[in-house]
Amino acid sequence: MAGLILRRFEPADASQALEAEAEFATGPDVFLPGFDEASDFSSWLGKVDHVRAGCHERVGWLRAEYLAAWVGDELVGRISVRFEGDPGLLEQVGHIGYVVRVHHRGRGYATEMLRHATVVAREGGLGVLVVGCAEDNAASATVIERCGGVLSSRFLHQGRPFRRYQIPAQS
Ligand SMILES: CC(C)(COP(=O)(O)OP(=O)(O)OC[C@H]1O[C@@H](n2cnc3c(N)ncnc32)[C@H](O)[C@@H]1OP(=O)(O)O)[C@@H](O)C(=O)NCCC(=O)NCCS
Repeated sequence: MAGLILRRFEPADASQALEAEAEFATGPDVFLPGFDEASDFSSWLGKVDHVRAGCHERVGWLRAEYLAAWVGDELVGRISVRFEGDPGLLEQVGHIGYVVRVHHRGRGYATEMLRHATVVAREGGLGVLVVGCAEDNAASATVIERCGGVLSSRFLHQGRPFRRYQIPAQS
């Protein structure tokens, strides 16, 4: 897809990143994982640096990369690649977390983001990505399958049926 760029978050992204975070405030998804409303964007960037370096602030946090998806000057989504951490947690939540802002959905952005993330995963040392997806999340299942995801199992996460897919990392 022309025009979609994935890159690390920067201080200058504060306004759009906080706007996006606020859009997700009332739903089950988050735009800035681990963001503390009582804090500010630069603190969140500091947290991300820690997690990126594998310095967990609490048990279960994983070494991870957080990337912002931009189309032109608009922040359209966020994707996380979790490289390692608590094996039980990784087994449940998988290596990938991603969201696209509501008014940017249905344009192939998540598909492009996940494709790119399979390359980031390879660079970070993963051979195969495990990606979890709620059974009723048809949009995410479509994206995962389009990126080469093969259904490997079904499981319950917090009482909710989930699918587990495997996607080969790409170079
Ligand atoms: C899942 C999500 C990331 C998809 O983002 P997106 O940018 O809209 O995804 P894409 O445009 O790349 O592809 C979505 C595909 O699913 C399809 N789709 C959307 N809703 C669907 C539905 N209810 N049933 C079947 N297919 C559906 C779309 O039509 C599209 O396929 P198409 O290109 O053939 O039309 C986005 O909906 C989102 O952020 N959801 C909330 C967070 C979330 O669920 N994250 C994933 C956790 S596993």
